[in-house]
Amino acid sequence: MQMQSKQMDMPLLTPFKIGGKTAKNRFVLAPMTRQRFEDESGTPTSLVEAYYLQRAEAGLLITEATNISATAKGFSHTPNMYTPAHADAWRSFTDSVHETGSLIAMQLAHAGRLSNQRVLPAHQHPHAPSTMDVNYFSRMKNAENVMEQVLCSPAVEMSIEAIKTVHADFCHAATLALDAGFDFIELHAAHGFLIHQFLSASSNKRNDLYGGEIENRSLFLLELLAELAKHVPLNKVGIRISPVGKYNGVDDTEDEALYRYLVKCLAKLDLAYLHVSEPNWNGSQPMSEALRTHITSTFTGCKIFSGGYQFQTAEERVKSNTVDAIAFGRSFIANPKLVKHYAENLPLHEVRKEFLYDGAQIGYTDY
Ligand SMILES: Cc1cc2nc3c(=O)[nH]c(=O)nc-3n(C[C@H](O)[C@H](O)[C@H](O)COP(=O)(O)O)c2cc1C
Repeated sequence: MQMQSKQMDMPLLTPFKIGGKTAKNRFVLAPMTRQRFEDESGTPTSLVEAYYLQRAEAGLLITEATNISATAKGFSHTPNMYTPAHADAWRSFTDSVHETGSLIAMQLAHAGRLSNQRVLPAHQHPHAPSTMDVNYFSRMKNAENVMEQVLCSPAVEMSIEAIKTVHADFCHAATLALDAGFDFIELHAAHGFLIHQFLSASSNKRNDLYGGEIENRSLFLLELLAELAKHVPLNKVGIRISPVGKYNGVDDTEDEALYRYLVKCLAKLDLAYLHVSEPNWNGSQPMSEALRTHITSTFTGCKIFSGGYQFQTAEERVKSNTVDAIAFGRSFIANPKLVKHYAENLPLHEVRKEFLYDGAQIGYTDY
């Protein structure tokens, strides 16, 4: 009884429905690349598992961006999901998460042009919708084992055949991830990764079917979803988009129309959820209320919003009944027991930025 009244006062502690399942509360761990994996395997070590389990008070955990193939890699020390051995290695990880009562999604990603020959097979050039001047960076360890930002290598324009291969790689990775016990897979269509590179006019300069008008730029993603539906139930597929922002050399700040169209298309599919990364956390202008209303009223399925949320703003969003859950990023890094901090009104710790992408257990499992 006491718990019930506490939940009513604290809307983020109530459960929500997602893809036919129930998440225990409305806290989501946002996907965050932490570069603590071993390059050779790209599967969870005990350190990685400890990091996620510390945060398994959340209703839903989303893994950091996970490579769907060797050619999808953009950053060193990131996870992989493209062989049966990867799926086998992830299975005990998903079992451990489920024992806590949390759900877990794997974010599947292709970095596209956001890569460097140093981390790609046979030092090949990264793949991208178009070849353009390089003014964006990736992050990897150098020969002295020091993590550094590196200018990306010039990309080659993807052929139609290469596009089909990437679609097949996403489907293969999704099948493996669900087989490994993940509740959902999340397509990373945000933050300047490959799918976003196709969506945005700033990075897609193609003259064929996949470039030009909004409908054409959206085709790479919409065809991928159609392919995915042949391999996995779409109610196990979430998608993350980052409307009207500026990330990793991709700039959509003036393109509300793209996201109006895209969300209309996504609303017709029975997806597990739509995850919206809002633009302001990364220095762009906030999303207009008109676009927010368009997204929340058009996509009637489960919605997760993220980017710069505090407990109070998260509560307001959930109370308005327009959003189901809020994904927290940096505050969840610095406060593994974020749900407890909310429930018991405890003060929050600050994130140590110098260890976001490096530092083994420091700034990772020692908060
Ligand atoms: C260290 C770090 C790594 C990130 N890696 C990813 C990633 O792999 N995939 C992704 O979609 N977003 C990534 N993001 C963005 C976060 O998911 C989130 O949207 C962002 O931190 C804003 O939320 P916050 O204000 O609650 O931190 C990353 C952010 C940080 C700080």
